[in-house]
Amino acid sequence: MDTTYKPINISDEELLKIDDEYCSHGDTVHYMTPPKVFREANGSFVIDSQGIEYLDIQMWYSACNFGYKNERINNSLKHSIDTMPQLASQFINPDRSMLAKKIGDATEKRFGVKGRTHFNVGGAQAVEDALKIVRNHTGKSLMFAYQGGYHGRTLGASAITSSYRYRRRFGHFSDRAHFTPYPYCFRCPYGKKVEDCNLYCVKQFEKNFETEYQSFLDVKTNECEFTAFFAEPIQGTGGYVIPPKGYFQEMKKILDRYKILLVSDEIQMGFYRTGKLWAMEHFGVTPDIITFGKALTNGMNPLSGIWAKGELITPEKFPPGSTHSTFSSNPMGTRSGLEVMTMLEEVDHEKLVMDKGAYFLAQLKDLQKKHKNIGDVDGLGLALRAEVCEADGYTPSKSIIDKIMNEGLKGDLEYRGKKCGLVIDVGGYKKNVITIAPSLYITNEEIDMSIELLDQLFIRCK
Ligand SMILES: Cc1ncc(COP(=O)(O)O)c(C=O)c1O
Repeated sequence: MDTTYKPINISDEELLKIDDEYCSHGDTVHYMTPPKVFREANGSFVIDSQGIEYLDIQMWYSACNFGYKNERINNSLKHSIDTMPQLASQFINPDRSMLAKKIGDATEKRFGVKGRTHFNVGGAQAVEDALKIVRNHTGKSLMFAYQGGYHGRTLGASAITSSYRYRRRFGHFSDRAHFTPYPYCFRCPYGKKVEDCNLYCVKQFEKNFETEYQSFLDVKTNECEFTAFFAEPIQGTGGYVIPPKGYFQEMKKILDRYKILLVSDEIQMGFYRTGKLWAMEHFGVTPDIITFGKALTNGMNPLSGIWAKGELITPEKFPPGSTHSTFSSNPMGTRSGLEVMTMLEEVDHEKLVMDKGAYFLAQLKDLQKKHKNIGDVDGLGLALRAEVCEADGYTPSKSIIDKIMNEGLKGDLEYRGKKCGLVIDVGGYKKNVITIAPSLYITNEEIDMSIELLDQLFIRCK
């Protein structure tokens, strides 16, 4: 048999026709009409069939923190392809064990707690596993989560994700979380100002436990009906919302008082997106469980997982077969994950990301001064946000941001005399936030280019 690979040769038009007819429209591709086709990806750029380069400042929703076609990760995968590309998950491949050790050691170094890692294949599946660990440990199934939070679209993850739109057509969710307002200070749900609110939102949360008639706590046994709090340390899909100083520390005191576990969902913010391995490190609290995915493999073979404190996941408590997927510790995923963790150890990513993030944020703030349509801008490391608003700088404008996104994808912007495009992602409660998650290896020149292209887009789309 001829084993040479022959790439398919097909036009964008033909592809769009086939996709329209043969693919389900139930994913996110058909949010856009027509959807956009790309043919190549390299570094911070994706490239279309005309060879036009689009600077990508959202990097597959933060799944490609280390740049497209990262040579080192690719080389390690090539080694996997030539040695053991496949192996059933019931056996040990060396990368799986070594990756779990690296994650365990790194987490212990940061939080001073020993734990274990369990792998799965996607973010939502990791969230499912975290739910299982919590339910198994406490025997209870009700969770706290945040308004504006996103944890994935499996049934379990949808129950703790704050959008009814994601649940509406799929029956009754008896284990739907209790959704608490997130500390979204630019649009404070309580109408307060962060400068003098004294963390009013924490006090409101604390009120849930005042008497038994708030319906959360049996005050006679000090037992809460809700058993864990699923929290994004920075809201991802919710619009890269960064909590104020001291917030999680005060919340954790309340959680500890009522023995409520803290699950830090690091699926979007983990692996140095914010300048730390785990974004929760910025906030001075130790989670009981961490969920991770996306950038662990730089968007190569999917791999996700959870890290849980030792006592929650002992072999006795969580015995063989408690959860499993055919692909859960697939060799290609664990290989790229191990390479990512090794790279993170070798280079000071904290300094790299914080420096680049500061450079990016300073320029975003200058851009905000130029354009009335930019409301809040903020950032932690290379997780940055810009709210697109009406000319008052506050009223959210979905129509302007939609225009900006579509114009960026036309590929007719110009940078230094060359045609190009810009890929952004849109998040936020009102879908008016540019959530900026560039490659952690973005160059300063590419940051300058991002600002220049955003400037062109804001001028075009007023
Ligand atoms: C914080 C968070 N949790 C969970 C998920 C779900 O991950 P996946 O899309 O891989 O299922 C996402 C995806 O965006 C996320 O941002």
